[in-house]
Amino acid sequence: MWPDHRLIDLFKTEFPIVLAPMAGVMDADLVIAAAQGGALGSLPCAMLSVEKAREQVHIIRQRVSAPISMNFFCHKAVAVDPAREANWKERLAPYYKEMGLDAASPVNAANRAPFDGAMCELVEELKPEIVSFHFGFPEAALLGRVKAAGCKVMSSATTVREAIWLEEHGADAIIAQGAEAGGHRGMFLTENISEQPSTFALVPQVVDAVKVPVVAAGGIADGRGIAAAFALGAAGVQIGTAYLRCPESKVIGPARMALAQARDDSTVITNVMTGRPARGIANRVMREVGPISADAPQFPHAATALAPLKAAAEKQGKVDFTNLWAGQAVRLGREMPAAELTRALAGAALARLSRLAG
Ligand SMILES: Cc1cc2nc3c(=O)[nH]c(=O)nc-3n(C[C@H](O)[C@H](O)[C@H](O)COP(=O)(O)O)c2cc1C
Repeated sequence: MWPDHRLIDLFKTEFPIVLAPMAGVMDADLVIAAAQGGALGSLPCAMLSVEKAREQVHIIRQRVSAPISMNFFCHKAVAVDPAREANWKERLAPYYKEMGLDAASPVNAANRAPFDGAMCELVEELKPEIVSFHFGFPEAALLGRVKAAGCKVMSSATTVREAIWLEEHGADAIIAQGAEAGGHRGMFLTENISEQPSTFALVPQVVDAVKVPVVAAGGIADGRGIAAAFALGAAGVQIGTAYLRCPESKVIGPARMALAQARDDSTVITNVMTGRPARGIANRVMREVGPISADAPQFPHAATALAPLKAAAEKQGKVDFTNLWAGQAVRLGREMPAAELTRALAGAALARLSRLAG
């Protein structure tokens, strides 16, 4: 019934739908629910310790026998630049004052770490069926070990050049991430955000350029979007934003409200929250400091000084300093259990594809 079976065969899932990994707003619960609905569930590990990631995978394995994907960031770690950090703190000082916080207090918040030897050992131990990366691939030796453990690997490409690079470096599938997508741009061969093509333009060009199956991502939130992705030559889709309002996600109450109220023009690309460009619903700090600011320290250090502000504001029910990552199709999101949503998405896509074929 699906026009292309290559990803169903690769993932061994019922549907060619991937629940996007979404660090910070989901855990095993959403992975389990999406897998029960027939999707490939992805566990975001960028903000988890090795112990926590292991525990999460064990929880998933106890509840479902479906294949799973573990997801990691593989940016190049850079040391904190004290001068930039001080400048950033100064830029944020009025907010610290307003919230009654001491800018000199040390911050101890979880941040985003790149895939390393310890995480690689965990992958070798747990052997997830799929490992997906963001920001390219890890160094060849680590990637080789992941593949030798029997895991299929994929990563996001935001341009044709990145897609070709990923295929040449061993990708089993490529996620073509268009500009509409929520969260960080997976870009790794360019830093120019104005160059990123939209999903509609990117997917067919990536399909033409590589032999491996292509997963379309960005702005896909219902059966129409999934059918369009197949029409463009994709063999499956990766969907993030549309799952954020599921009861199994860990999105906090006020952020759920922002998601429910967002419209087509509510999101912007900002570097203020982490130091790397990402799309989210515009909030106070994105508007007042950015959305793009030359003052933001390099990824992921911009997030450090924002962490106390985020925590204090959230206590007051505010998301002024929370990274409300969401894509341009946020308005199409629905509040329903993730298994039900997955089946509804697949059913609507198949119905539309068969109508189009007739
Ligand atoms: C809240 C949120 C968090 C995200 N975190 C990650 C992540 O940890 N790893 C990753 O590879 N992609 C991440 N992404 C990007 C997704 O993989 C995917 O490209 C995007 O969700 C697709 O666009 P959509 O949100 O319009 O469906 C995130 C996206 C969102 C919305």
